[in-house]
Amino acid sequence: MVNLSEKEILELIDEAVEISKKAYVNYSHFPVGAVLIDENGRKFKGVNVENASFGLSLCAERNAITTAVTDGMKKIKTLVVTGDTDKPISPCGACRQFMLEFADENTVIILSNYNREYKICSMEDLLPYSFKL
Ligand code: THU
Repeated sequence: MVNLSEKEILELIDEAVEISKKAYVNYSHFPVGAVLIDENGRKFKGVNVENASFGLSLCAERNAITTAVTDGMKKIKTLVVTGDTDKPISPCGACRQFMLEFADENTVIILSNYNREYKICSMEDLLPYSFKL
């Protein structure tokens, strides 16, 4: 269940859109922004950072998560992701598995686009029958 108002969701999407402008996307020209709120209400952001060796490129979601972990984040409360897509962006499989590591049944993932359209998902919605140790 989301404990965010429509206004708060739209503000977080706007922040994700804003941060996406910092993305380093020299190859795909496809900026992505992520805003993460942790279990203590702290906010972290991430953008995709690409590389001439394409496989080294880092997605915005994983960038936000590793930044948050570096500052002590234990659980993702809310993760907002955005890109300039027709429908709300769909995170890659690697990012879904990466999110799972720091998600629980209360984690809310908000997929969005630059038009402020959004879709609210649980981790189970994004990665059913998932691999865990
Ligand atoms: N990308 C993300 O950062 N997050 C997503 O959810 C989808 C894809 C990035 C990876 C690459 O830099 C670019 O978008 C095109 O795939």
